[in-house]
Amino acid sequence: MPEAIFLAPDRTTSARGAKPVDYGCLSARDSDPRAELRRLYRGLRLDGFEIPTGDRRAVERSAGSPIYGELRPTATIRLLARLGLGRRDQFVDLGSGLGKVVLLAAMTTPVGRALGVELSATRVDVAARVLAQAQRERVAGTRRASFVRADMLRHPLDQATVIYTCSTAFSSAFMARLQRRMVELPRLRTLVSLQDFDPHPAFELREVVRLDASWKRGTKVHIYARRAGLMW
Ligand SMILES: C[S@@+](CC[C@H](N)C(=O)[O-])C[C@H]1O[C@@H](n2cnc3c(N)ncnc32)[C@H](O)[C@@H]1O
Repeated sequence: MPEAIFLAPDRTTSARGAKPVDYGCLSARDSDPRAELRRLYRGLRLDGFEIPTGDRRAVERSAGSPIYGELRPTATIRLLARLGLGRRDQFVDLGSGLGKVVLLAAMTTPVGRALGVELSATRVDVAARVLAQAQRERVAGTRRASFVRADMLRHPLDQATVIYTCSTAFSSAFMARLQRRMVELPRLRTLVSLQDFDPHPAFELREVVRLDASWKRGTKVHIYARRAGLMW
């Protein structure tokens, strides 16, 4: 297992001064999706780092990790732009926490569906509340987003074409189980994971990019491409 200590958000890292980002589509033409996101989450009492004991136990029973951290919004938008998401894609964030990656996928790309799978009831409830508010306000793209409270090792993922998981805190045993699931998914073309997977003939490591996360600047993000026709 890698060092899996997620610190509180690094509030000294600011988006100010960053180069303008090409968001690729939709609402970004009219407004900055990072500002939209900040506005939607402003005022929530829960920041996602702390969850009730019951939630923590539920996540631990799944053999996953309840430790929390996020890719920063600018980093998330850059990553999403690299993935070439289109109308035929279903993007899934496994362990979607408060839902920011899923919302940004829906807001900044033409993806067909963006789904968040999260086992902590508290976190998924926050994500669902923010999404409902965004949909009431008709924030562009958000009708294509949804969240489900479920175990990522069990929830059906047959429609997923691109999967992201912020897996830094997952054990190697959990990563191995996750990889076995990924190999079986019929439509999966791209798998993105912060922690690297063991080599597998079904996946080719396409690139490793460094992006800012809440606990570390320039953390490694591994992007795997599915080798055509290889299923186990
Ligand atoms: C590091 S956080 C990711 C946050 C989010 N993806 C983001 O980047 O903003 C990992 C999340 O995985 C969730 N998790 C852990 N094991 C899980 C499982 N078996 N099924 C679903 N979610 C799980 C945790 O509750 C936690 O919220």
